[in-house]
Amino acid sequence: MPSSSSVILPLFCALLLLSASWAASDSIEKEFYHCVCSNTIVSIPISEAFFIQNNSAFTSILESTAQNLRCLVQSRHKPELIFKPLDEFQVQVAVICARKLGIQLRVRSGGHDYEGLSYTSETKSSFFLIDLANLRTVNASIAENSAWVQAGATIGEVYYWIAQKSRTHGFPAGLCTSVGIGGHITGGAYGTLMRKYGLAADNVVDARIVDSSGRILDRESMGEDLFWAIRGGGGGSFGILLAWKLRLVPVPAIVTVFTVRRTLEQGATKLLYRWQQVADHLDEDLFIRVLSRPTNSTDDQKGKRTIETAYQALFLGRADRLLKVMKKGLPELGLTQKDCIEMSWIESVLYIAEYPRTIRPEFLLQGKPLLNKVYFKAKSDFVKEPIKEHALEGIWKMFLEQDSPLTIWNPHGGMMSRISESETPYPHRNGTKFMIQWLTKWESGDDEETIKEHIDWIRKLYKFMTPYVPRSPRAAYVNYRDLDLGVNSIDGGTSLAEASSWGTKYFKNNWKRLVLVKTKVDPENFFRHEQSIPITDAFSTAKKKRKEDWHGFI
Ligand SMILES: Cc1cc2nc3c(=O)[nH]c(=O)nc-3n(C[C@H](O)[C@H](O)[C@H](O)COP(=O)(O)OP(=O)(O)OC[C@H]3O[C@@H](n4cnc5c(N)ncnc54)[C@H](O)[C@@H]3O)c2cc1C
Ligand SMILES: *[C@@H]1O[C@H](CO)[C@@H](O)[C@H](O)[C@H]1NC(C)=O
Ligand SMILES: *[C@@H]1O[C@H](CO)[C@@H](O)[C@H](O)[C@H]1NC(C)=O
Ligand SMILES: *[C@@H]1O[C@H](CO)[C@@H](O)[C@H](O)[C@H]1NC(C)=O
Ligand SMILES: *[C@@H]1O[C@H](CO)[C@@H](O)[C@H](O)[C@H]1NC(C)=O
Repeated sequence: MPSSSSVILPLFCALLLLSASWAASDSIEKEFYHCVCSNTIVSIPISEAFFIQNNSAFTSILESTAQNLRCLVQSRHKPELIFKPLDEFQVQVAVICARKLGIQLRVRSGGHDYEGLSYTSETKSSFFLIDLANLRTVNASIAENSAWVQAGATIGEVYYWIAQKSRTHGFPAGLCTSVGIGGHITGGAYGTLMRKYGLAADNVVDARIVDSSGRILDRESMGEDLFWAIRGGGGGSFGILLAWKLRLVPVPAIVTVFTVRRTLEQGATKLLYRWQQVADHLDEDLFIRVLSRPTNSTDDQKGKRTIETAYQALFLGRADRLLKVMKKGLPELGLTQKDCIEMSWIESVLYIAEYPRTIRPEFLLQGKPLLNKVYFKAKSDFVKEPIKEHALEGIWKMFLEQDSPLTIWNPHGGMMSRISESETPYPHRNGTKFMIQWLTKWESGDDEETIKEHIDWIRKLYKFMTPYVPRSPRAAYVNYRDLDLGVNSIDGGTSLAEASSWGTKYFKNNWKRLVLVKTKVDPENFFRHEQSIPITDAFSTAKKKRKEDWHGFI
């Protein structure tokens, strides 16, 4: 462990500070730089790792992996400084220095946070950003059936390096390849292999984390409580994940994919009602998700807008067996041999992420999405009873009023039902038929009016759905973070009841244990943001009342 106070300030470090954009800054930024640089063995050139707002590279680095343009608007608070550590030791030193100087930190791995909490803040408190983009080594070992992956790697890179070693090994994480493995697993992380193998969080066997004292801990030294909390309790609450150790899972050398589309005119509503009844009971080798959005009708209905539902699937086997499974499980879809495409698992990753067939797996090494970034706002639901056809028709009506809405329905069942609700913080297990993601996105318009119009619409849709989804609680997915559900007051004053209202939506009965683990490992609430797990003490400013609150809660 490095000492937290420096004895000698290396000359190299001091000289580098003469850089022009830093000249006027004799502030906390400079102190942080001095602290980090004098406590690391090799001094880091300022131009490669530290970026203050005056620096010409600041904006491009801030925006580099920021996925939601809505969170980059002017009214959002940006970091005062971005630090891009070059090794794990520098992350450790950064935590020690930030604590010593009283600086709030945010940490970013892949930048896919739905509310941009990894790189911006809604509150006025200033903060520094630790961006892990330089820490992206993936070491996969087929002999050990595992991989150590650094937090800054994207899931596409993880998939790529596993596939490089073996055609018959894979890993059950998300569908969108630019997601960062660092933040992703902190929220559970589902994808096409979930029905067979569960979440990414269910397949983590070890981890390295920097805690609030600046120590690097692994599974053994952190203990099972913290190891439990980091596998689904949400990012930014317990420490900085440096690396995960993943258990690889077997995949066939040849898998089969398909996408079958149905519009309203082709009976989409009835078919979707049918899918809801069977999706969580189908063969576990089969994952079929449904994406619904408005589209223009085909020729016979010229000009008319309709809804298209796309059934997108991965099957862990060959087409001939898939056809049998579908004939038995969902014959209404009318799947034919012609719809089925056989390929390797890594090719299926690209297919499911909707890359054109001409894109090679090497594209994944670029660690970025294929399409341009958009502005978006999303919400989620977990469904236990099929949504009736008249409610589906209500959804379509609202969809046709919007320019670019999308809803994605992801089946549960299979392995997801065999893991208990308390095994990890992700509680949406047996009994959950599928998860819904509601989304509205737009390509341009950072004015308040455009943003408000989209947010109002999705809130209206969410309200419309109230009678058709579970209510107590109305469950939500922490990786689809939604600040409408409630926020911490960063500077204190949030009551236990307020925080529990969103906490139980994400974590149900696991919420209490998360709060207790948080209080134990980070009693000063150093790692915090608008929806971080609060400590027991932060619930109320009135100390007396606070105690009562907490006792009533336990
Ligand atoms: C286009 C898109 C597609 C998606 N597809 C899927 C999907 O298929 N399946 C699924 O489950 N989810 C999916 N997600 C959601 C995704 O899992 C979450 O947004 C996840 O938190 C992103 O991780 P990240 O590292 O990219 O994000 P970041 O924005 O870097 O981080 C997210 C949160 O975790 C914290 N955090 C980041 N790194 C660390 C770290 N090293 N240690 C501790 N805390 C950290 C951040 O502070 C922030 O609170 C998708 C998101 C997007 C935008
Ligand atoms: C940024 O630059 C401006 C003008 O060059 C200067 O006034 C300001 O003090 C600088 N801020 C920092 C933090 O260096
Ligand atoms: C990957 O392996 C290399 C070489 O053995 C090692 O130096 C490095 O620390 C490993 N990285 C991770 C994330 O385990
Ligand atoms: C649908 O038609 C409208 C009007 O002709 C056009 O502007 C729009 O781009 C079309 N949308 C799609 C998805 O093809
Ligand atoms: C899942 O729930 C159903 C219905 O409550 C129950 O019959 C079944 O045994 C449960 N399965 C598991 C694996 O717990």
